[in-house]
Amino acid sequence: MRFATKAIRVAQNPESEHRSVSYPLYQTSTFAWDQIDEEPKVAYSRVNNPNRLVLEEVLASMENGTHCTCFSSGMAAVVAALSLLEAGDHVLVASDIYGGTYRYIEAILPRQGIGHSIFDADNPSSISQAVTPRSKMVVFESPTNPLLRVCDIRAIVAEAKKHGLITVFDNTFASPALQRPLDLGCDIVIHSTTKYITGHSDVVGGAFITSDAAFGEAAAEWVKNTGASPSPFDAWLCLRGLKTLALRMERHSANAQRVAEWLQQQPDVSAVYYPGLPDSPYHQVAKSQMDGFSGMLSFEFGTVEMAKVVGTSTRIFLLAESLGGVESLIGYPTLMSHGCLTEEQRVERGVHPNLLRLSVGIEDVNDLIEDLDQAFAKARKAVGVAAIHA
Ligand SMILES: Cc1ncc(COP(=O)(O)O)c(C=O)c1O
Repeated sequence: MRFATKAIRVAQNPESEHRSVSYPLYQTSTFAWDQIDEEPKVAYSRVNNPNRLVLEEVLASMENGTHCTCFSSGMAAVVAALSLLEAGDHVLVASDIYGGTYRYIEAILPRQGIGHSIFDADNPSSISQAVTPRSKMVVFESPTNPLLRVCDIRAIVAEAKKHGLITVFDNTFASPALQRPLDLGCDIVIHSTTKYITGHSDVVGGAFITSDAAFGEAAAEWVKNTGASPSPFDAWLCLRGLKTLALRMERHSANAQRVAEWLQQQPDVSAVYYPGLPDSPYHQVAKSQMDGFSGMLSFEFGTVEMAKVVGTSTRIFLLAESLGGVESLIGYPTLMSHGCLTEEQRVERGVHPNLLRLSVGIEDVNDLIEDLDQAFAKARKAVGVAAIHA
């Protein structure tokens, strides 16, 4: 089965006496046993539920993996991957991974006796410089937040394998429609399914996918023991969203490309970060491992004031955290996604106060560009007026 068909038909044959075409919602905490000495396939919804099982089968097949465990959030999936580490181990972390993942590695792992070092994902050989005899895992992602850096996944995997490291890749920003990291050699893929996979800003969820049976079983055991399971309804909503993933990602990518090109023509925009732009330093590597460039982009103004006024002047783009939904969002990384970092950490990561991030949705792109245009005009006027008063 090809990708777009998998989301709609894997594990979703009409079942039950009513031959329901849409997979039914099993909104139940527990299941009746037929016999006392034979546990049913699903017995209790913290451990398993038919809606979760079908979602897991579909996601595994979309990532070309064999095992998937779904979680109540992306962070719960991240923590499940990190739970493969033991006291005394060390993990290598790419310099611009998701802030929440880094916070967990920095704040919680040391309490469990697990250390970390940072490497530069633009330079895979930096893994060999940062590795220690205790290193066990590499955690990385691409494209990154908020500057849309794209690393060479195959090269990082090759470097990690020289040292026998487990490779954990966060595929949230691309989704399996655009990038399948297990095919590129990664051991474990994690997702915040809150984003593109569900795609409608109505669920918080996560997933852990692998083709390694031992890792897959460890994740299933982890969700059972920690109780970080998604509710049946969240799993149902996620599966419904997933059915249109292939279509949505085409439109997100096409819209983002047009918006990025428009932004490049604006005199007040000093930089546009989008791997779909032919002059992006990441364009070639993105083309070599992705089937599209996704809907995320960011850009900088010459002044902080312009960024702040534009960020609060759009009418279609909503000023909000998160990404990957059908609706376009605008974000101010300094105070939103990267607000928990110190100023020094932000500067190190290139997150400056003149930067805005867009999650470009699937609306008509002409409306999106007109919306930005009116916000730019308003900001130019406001900043001009402020300058006269000053
Ligand atoms: C790349 C990435 N990974 C993981 C997460 C965590 O996901 P969640 O918010 O679903 O816990 C996020 C959230 O923004 C993210 O952007």
